Amino acid sequence: MIRIKDIHHVVYRHPDLDAAEAFFCDFGMSVQCRDNSHVYFRGAGQNYYIYIAEKSDRSEFVSMAFEVEDRQDLERASRLDGASSIQRLERPGGGERVTLQDPSGRQIDLVHGIASTDKRPMRAALVHNTADAKQRLGELQRPGKGPAEILRLGHIALGVKDLKANLDWYKETLGLLPSDMVVEGSKDNAHAVFLRLNRGQSWTDHHTVALFTAPEDHVHHASFEVQDVDAQILGNTWMKERGWSPFWGVGRHLLGSQIFDYWYDPSGNIVEHFTDGDLYNSESSTGFVEGGDDSLYQWGPEMSIEKFLGLSGQ
Ligand SMILES: [Fe+2]
Repeated sequence: MIRIKDIHHVVYRHPDLDAAEAFFCDFGMSVQCRDNSHVYFRGAGQNYYIYIAEKSDRSEFVSMAFEVEDRQDLERASRLDGASSIQRLERPGGGERVTLQDPSGRQIDLVHGIASTDKRPMRAALVHNTADAKQRLGELQRPGKGPAEILRLGHIALGVKDLKANLDWYKETLGLLPSDMVVEGSKDNAHAVFLRLNRGQSWTDHHTVALFTAPEDHVHHASFEVQDVDAQILGNTWMKERGWSPFWGVGRHLLGSQIFDYWYDPSGNIVEHFTDGDLYNSESSTGFVEGGDDSLYQWGPEMSIEKFLGLSGQ
């Protein structure tokens, strides 16, 4: 079994690298380094980068990367059917990777040894005075305007033509565990699955990979963690004032419970801010939920599941 520590970064191609840089800085990342053909963005966490924008003639998803526990996991991965050998990453931050493909043909990199960077201070989480517990005494609430500072990449959501093949692959190859299955009629008829890392007794995000049935294989969105609700709402205001295009938010999902806010980047890809998600461990049981708009969100601007997934008219 290959031991996955966490999702590490995603790579997308963009026709306008300057526009991508402006967008992702307003979105709450910062530039770790840049050359003529790449911008490496970091969050406040210790990963050297979490998002790579690559200059290209067209907008395109390139790959997603998961960090493995140690080099032995790369060695194990390199022996899998269709896997590459262990390759040096010729990028800032160094490290090594083994490249795999999921059943949809997507590039999945398993990485190890990429440099870590200094953790940057984020605004401290706000202390709330609730109706039945007053915890902020004599202190004012002043979170301050600005982008929603991003800590880390949290998950990726994928539309897949063959849900079963992908579900089996992510379970068997990466060891992921199903947290929730969205079904129609019976447990055997799943339309979407939310998968988490297997971190034993340690708590991990409700999902690191989400899969849903779609007419074409595609990446629906990549999602990045921010501090709290005020960061979400102030970040939403900041993005609107800067003229970027909203997709959906702010609201709270049902499965995973995250507070979400979705935006279109300048190349038309969807990216998400999330906070306050549920945590599971390897003993948490799998939920089965009947599909429908209520399986998508608890509150937020009105949205249908078809519109959200880009399946309207299908
Ligand atoms: Fe998401």
